Amino acid sequence: MTNDQYANLRRLRRNPTLREMLKENRLSASEFIYPMFVVNGTGVKTPIEPMPGINQMSVDIAVEETLKAKEFGVKSVLLFGIPKHKDSTGSSSSSQGEAVQQAVSAIKKASPSTYVITDVCLCEYTDHGHCGVLDGEDVDNKATLPLLAKTAISHARAGADMVAPSAMMDGQVAAIRSGLDENNFCNIPIMGYSAKYASAFYGPFRIAAESSPRFGDRNSYQMAPTQGREAMREIAADIEEGADLVMVKPALAYLDVIKEASLQFDTPIAAYNVSGEYSMVAAAGQAGWLDQERSMMEILTSIKRAGADLIITYSAIQAAKILSRG
Ligand code: PBG
Repeated sequence: MTNDQYANLRRLRRNPTLREMLKENRLSASEFIYPMFVVNGTGVKTPIEPMPGINQMSVDIAVEETLKAKEFGVKSVLLFGIPKHKDSTGSSSSSQGEAVQQAVSAIKKASPSTYVITDVCLCEYTDHGHCGVLDGEDVDNKATLPLLAKTAISHARAGADMVAPSAMMDGQVAAIRSGLDENNFCNIPIMGYSAKYASAFYGPFRIAAESSPRFGDRNSYQMAPTQGREAMREIAADIEEGADLVMVKPALAYLDVIKEASLQFDTPIAAYNVSGEYSMVAAAGQAGWLDQERSMMEILTSIKRAGADLIITYSAIQAAKILSRG
């Protein structure tokens, strides 16, 4: 039988070995970054209800979790801290005795090969829940920058390998870069949360990190979901300020932004597969409405296909387990 009327695309799909050979995109555990929420205390492991399988962890448990991740080839973690107390300036964000700083040094001690990245923001540390300090009801960009730099320096001092500012303040990358450099941390890279949208998909994270704004919203600093070109300006600005890596966040509803960024810029791109994306799949999976594992892998694959070099995902360990089964 001849088939000269149509392109024969199915010819290449008939054989499983050939399908495997022709894969255009392959996920690997080495490109995953696993976010963790650390709290003070010991032996604390508090489940986060909307994120089944994810917990708030004290430092000792976070160390165990890091070792478990490493067993499956996930060698990088992104730490968020929940402090003992909050105030209007988020003053505990740069305290060496706080959960994040303690977790950084404990993890580096227990597992020196684990690459430890810290989130640099004030929202978990301020009593009003905004990402910077306030001037009235407005988040004061200029006054926030030195506090972010101070926080980043405290993370570097604790042994962080990389810092990731997520407050969406203009100039935060530059402020952190000079702060790090002045303190002899010239070799610590900065991953900018460059194109960070004001997204409903952060809902579960704010429960996990206890960081919901007490009034208003984040629309005056995070980007509106309608914006595509503006994301390119944000990314360009971060690169100009010295970001070593840039990020698009969330990932799933912004795959076009990841794609466009990967075409326009040569700086490595991370994509954040955020809490709400995790919760959606987990909830539908638990209800038996979709196959959780396959959906998760399909989403991660789409992020990779869009052009992300690194994927920050709560599914890192689960996905790495699946990949190790082959
Ligand atoms: C803090 C921060 C947020 C996330 C990462 N860093 C929340 C926010 O901006 O409110 C969201 C991560 C997620 O949803 O998984 N600025």
